[in-house]
Amino acid sequence: MKIDVLLGLQWGDEGKGKVVDVLTPRYDAVARFQGGPNAGHTLEFEGKKYVLRSIPSGIFQHGQVNIIGNGVVLDPVLFQEEAESLEKSGIALKEILKISKKVHLIMPTHRLLDAANEKAKGGAKIGTTGKGIGPTYTDKISRNGLRLGDVFHDFETKYTNARDKHIATLKSMGENPEFDELEQRWLKAIEYIKGYDIVDSEYLINSLLREGKSVLCEGAQGTLLDVDFGSYPFVTSSNTICAGACSGLGVAPNKIGEVFGIFKAYCTRVGSGPFPTELFDETGKRIRDLGHEYGAVTGRERRCGWIDLVALRYSIMINGVTQLIMMKSDVLDDFDEIKACVAYKINGEETTQFPFSIEENAIEPVYVTLPGWKTDMTHFKSESEFPQAFSDYIKFLEKELETPITIISIGPDREQTIERNK
Ligand code: GDP
Ligand code: IMO
Ligand code: MG
Repeated sequence: MKIDVLLGLQWGDEGKGKVVDVLTPRYDAVARFQGGPNAGHTLEFEGKKYVLRSIPSGIFQHGQVNIIGNGVVLDPVLFQEEAESLEKSGIALKEILKISKKVHLIMPTHRLLDAANEKAKGGAKIGTTGKGIGPTYTDKISRNGLRLGDVFHDFETKYTNARDKHIATLKSMGENPEFDELEQRWLKAIEYIKGYDIVDSEYLINSLLREGKSVLCEGAQGTLLDVDFGSYPFVTSSNTICAGACSGLGVAPNKIGEVFGIFKAYCTRVGSGPFPTELFDETGKRIRDLGHEYGAVTGRERRCGWIDLVALRYSIMINGVTQLIMMKSDVLDDFDEIKACVAYKINGEETTQFPFSIEENAIEPVYVTLPGWKTDMTHFKSESEFPQAFSDYIKFLEKELETPITIISIGPDREQTIERNK
């Protein structure tokens, strides 16, 4: 059996949570493979709304196994808050959730380091989510990290050593770290996590596959935030791309089946960094208002702009996307015209290649203008209802991106999802 991967092709917040929930009934297991509580994945159904940060979006369907893989970084305090609130809403989380022994733990001092690093960068700050993601992955790569499995082996010494190193670094940066209260909460949260199934998730996933069971992997962030291929240094600290599912779960590349690439009918970004198609005018504001483009984690305004096909082609290539999923087309339902960036002009020369550095202002997007469909599609049930202009828009995108669009989302609710005949 193969493992399918669903991931974001832009700068995150494409709507991954919604679609993972929709697709979950077709799978036996759902797994997160990277990122941490910097993610905010929103699901809506039966009039209720949930935002998930560390827990996979496959928990609301019919008892599928949900796995937090080794590539994830976990903050015990935020995990406890998230888990307890889900348990209150009747989800039997302890029965369905498995957590890898190898996930790295976000410590209170990692969050302080995240804030101190941002402060030190001044005007060049990344605009992180402040959740300690960068420092935790830094410790992992420099072989100083603390893993969940460590809670069973001489944990106090390992924790104290790591914490003291962080304190020394913070002091050398001119900070005066105080976190007694947070540390107490964190240590209590460690005890709470011990109540969950902490497993060798690489064995679990591979044995599921051997038994013929199907697994869906849920990406966090998006390809343009990937630490290798994104708009470096304005990226997150993990591999958000398809290959990240192999290292973040312990599955071999030849086990990957479908790769679902998910994108918005326009583009957004939260935090700093270049964004060639960003709109600073009324149209950008209109997209933000209609699309409710405010961060699910931090509440920050998301920057908005037109769809960028140069970036999307690049993301499709890097991930080996086999099917595309287009989200939030309803946000553009009332636009007279829609633009799509088909190339970049850099120093007067046109290119369709995503450049080494997408420095702000240096790129001039080359746009194609398409007619809007001017139809409220939010109640549609099938593609046969699509107005001609919308069908033409899809055809245009499929031709430009050389990949079929198989699912179209026309609203935030689980039900507002249209599957196309391939
Ligand atoms: P994720 O991080 O990729 O899971 O995406 P987020 O949850 O951060 O952001 C997507 C936002 O768009 C959420 O508020 C969703 O409820 C909402 N959403 C998802 N799909 C659609 C859609 O097709 N139309 C509209 N209007 N909203 C959507
Ligand atoms: P989901 O999974 C959008 C952005 C931050 C910042 C940069 C680095 O909901 O799509 P970090 O805290 O990871 O060190 O921040 O990455 N970022 C996201 N933007 N959606 C996300 O997750 C993001 N996770 C991180 O805003 O620019
Ligand atoms: Mg999000």
